[in-house]
Amino acid sequence: MNIKMVPGLLLAHALLFSQADARPRAEMLLDKNWKFSRGDFTSAMMPSFDDGAWQSVTLPHDWAIYGPFDANNDLQEVAIVQDGQQQALAHAGRTGGLPFLGAGWYRLRFSVPDFAPGKRAFLLFDGAMSNARVYVNGKEAGFWPYGYNSFHFDITGLLKPGEENLLAVRLENLPESSRWYPGAGIYRNVHLVVTEALHIPVWGIQVTTPVVRKDFARVVVRATVDKPARMENSSVSLVTNLLDAQGRTVASAKSGLTRFDEGIIEQQLVVEQPALWDTEHPHLYTAVSRLYEGETLKDEYATPFGIRTLEVIPGKGFFLNGKRVQFKGVCNHHDLGPLGAAVNDAAIRRQVRIMKEMGVNAIRTSHNMPAPELVRACDEMGMMVMAETFDEWKAPKMKNGYHNYFDEWGEKDLVNLVRHYRNNPSVVMWCIGNEVPDQGTADGPKIARFLQDICHREDPTRPVTQGMDHPDAVISNNFAAVMDVAGFNYRSHRYRDAYGKLPQEIILGSETASTVSSRGVYKLPAVRRSMAKYDDHQSSSYDLEHCDWSDLPEDNFIQHEELGYCIGEFVWTGFDYLGEPTPYYTDWPSHSSLFGIVDLAGIPKDRYYLYRSLWNDKEPTLHILPHWNWQGHEGEVVPVMVYTSHPSAELFINGKSQGRRTKDLSVTLERSDNKASQKSLERQKRYRLMWMETRYEPGTVKVVAYGGDGKEVAVKEMRTAGKPHRIELEADRSVIGADGRDIAFINVRVVDREGNLCPHDSREITFSVKGQGRYKASANGNPVCLTPFQSETMPLFSGQLTALVQSSETPGEILFEASAKGVKKARLLLTGSPVPAP
Ligand code: GAL
Repeated sequence: MNIKMVPGLLLAHALLFSQADARPRAEMLLDKNWKFSRGDFTSAMMPSFDDGAWQSVTLPHDWAIYGPFDANNDLQEVAIVQDGQQQALAHAGRTGGLPFLGAGWYRLRFSVPDFAPGKRAFLLFDGAMSNARVYVNGKEAGFWPYGYNSFHFDITGLLKPGEENLLAVRLENLPESSRWYPGAGIYRNVHLVVTEALHIPVWGIQVTTPVVRKDFARVVVRATVDKPARMENSSVSLVTNLLDAQGRTVASAKSGLTRFDEGIIEQQLVVEQPALWDTEHPHLYTAVSRLYEGETLKDEYATPFGIRTLEVIPGKGFFLNGKRVQFKGVCNHHDLGPLGAAVNDAAIRRQVRIMKEMGVNAIRTSHNMPAPELVRACDEMGMMVMAETFDEWKAPKMKNGYHNYFDEWGEKDLVNLVRHYRNNPSVVMWCIGNEVPDQGTADGPKIARFLQDICHREDPTRPVTQGMDHPDAVISNNFAAVMDVAGFNYRSHRYRDAYGKLPQEIILGSETASTVSSRGVYKLPAVRRSMAKYDDHQSSSYDLEHCDWSDLPEDNFIQHEELGYCIGEFVWTGFDYLGEPTPYYTDWPSHSSLFGIVDLAGIPKDRYYLYRSLWNDKEPTLHILPHWNWQGHEGEVVPVMVYTSHPSAELFINGKSQGRRTKDLSVTLERSDNKASQKSLERQKRYRLMWMETRYEPGTVKVVAYGGDGKEVAVKEMRTAGKPHRIELEADRSVIGADGRDIAFINVRVVDREGNLCPHDSREITFSVKGQGRYKASANGNPVCLTPFQSETMPLFSGQLTALVQSSETPGEILFEASAKGVKKARLLLTGSPVPAP
């Protein structure tokens, strides 16, 4: 067990405690020494139950990610109506083919030195998948069905001071309850919070910044106080200090209870010359709230927040700190590829880094509540978040989906989301639903209004949206009209119509593209295709393939560039995720999506550079595709494409010019809005440079890029790779924190003697880790590969994979080695550092 003095929002700020001996609030992370077993054990809630034979696990833990993959895991015999299916099909990999179904139990014996009569104790789960029943010392503490939400229970009356306690948690996942891999188990952190009787409850502080100017900002801190009935209101006071990022106090206030009955204290503070939060300068402040009874400190709670303004101006756009900002966003599911749903800070921060480098400024947490680690990373790294809730309301998509819970739990779930994240500056919009079938029902608009009102009640500062995909219904029945922001999933060809009819005069591409591709796989001929399937269960990385309902990136770029009332888009998806292997619904093996701009291993596909070329306005992009190893296709047409931020380029194959191409800015939305233009790739010509008639001959492909003034600005070359020669390794970070949790992600690739990637290599790589770390998992990004992620041998996919090495709790060197038959092995030295690594 990890005992920390952690106030409020669970950030370690030990220095916040001014009185050395006072421990008014203690938080324990309940991560170690858990026992776990699959199956149902009705008596496992009782302290007397013998769990000696159970598996020892550390949280966060996803019981299903260890596999094995199997088509029969949650094989769903259904028609996916949203995807236009009319008959039931045997959907094999829809939830990833992983064994997440059924019941599982967790048990933990623990003692709480800080707990004594008169104190209060709370259990806070960041998320548990799903239908969590929580028992303390054999008695039920509470139930929370939705697996994605954070929830907390008061366990004061169940806990035994000075003795060993037993926490038991039963979880159960039902078949046909999910459209993607949900994970299984206590996959996020669990915290035990001990307070005095007079205390600030979990999420009890709300910080808003109603006035933000260059010279000052007004900050309102509203504290809810839980107070024993006998205590005089007049003896309670709250002292708030606002600290800047360097820990300096920039404003203070002291006051008593302002709204007696509700136990609310409201304070107004002024910060001079505020440092605003935005995506480039994510300045953060911390509100430290100290609660006193008379002179005695009773509670201390830290709330990170930011100072910034948000505005949605009809017809004009979305404004952050008065500046128009276009959402260059991605939708992401919660799973972390080879780690499954088990939350990991390093994995999350790596994802955010990769997205930022592409130019992304916002993440939509589709289709549910994010992990606190993600929101914190986005606060700190400067990434906006659209925080989402539900994939279903009252009307079903899945037999055992959320519609079974909505009436009883919908409001509670939404309230928890908003209270949890309403102080986080990265969160800029709430999203109350995704393509809910209620769009077409008589009650639909009322439910939309009901949910939006809850968001406004709990947080009057943020706009509310949802992703709609039935434009005809929602435009005519008020469903879209009630929303602060009308979000459309796909249907970009209907934006102009919707804008004309809806009152908001703002359109959001809440979900766009759904282009499919497999990293390093190219299909000939390179033509635009919908729902294209191949024997190898892959999709082409020429980035011309999509679903029946979806688009190519440029179909959205052009709308968002030309229509001023469009506030941007959230592409489906930033990363590949487990489950939903469209279009290979029934074609096992296929366990993960092909939608990602980045694959399941976190390795960018070509599409990454297309988005980067438009979205990253700091660094230039120049990227060539496909690879140049087309043995057996000599003399045949193998088109070459270049994704670049530069306006034009010339291509050379073995020194011979293939001509110069310039982005065709004369292609307009109006002109290209027809089938023939789609087929002839008109819109693509505005954003990518294409040589569709080049013929393959082994050797060198060179691209010379020219700036707007016609001068050469950059050159890139790609060569046909020779015989595989050696393994090359590159870690995302070579120094990681020695905390037993941190992870280095190592790119493993096979190259020829000159260092060219061997793009077809699929040999098996074997890993070994020595010293203060351990091999955690690996992934190759191949949706077809059924090797469990934890296997110490993993085949490459298109010449590459990613290996994950986790630190131990002892600082020191970590030696990683990757070897394979027929090529030279490689070693990499990492360091587990005693201080948290950056
Ligand atoms: C959308 C849906 C997503 C995903 C996507 C695939 O309609 O909202 O969850 O299924 O389609 O293209």
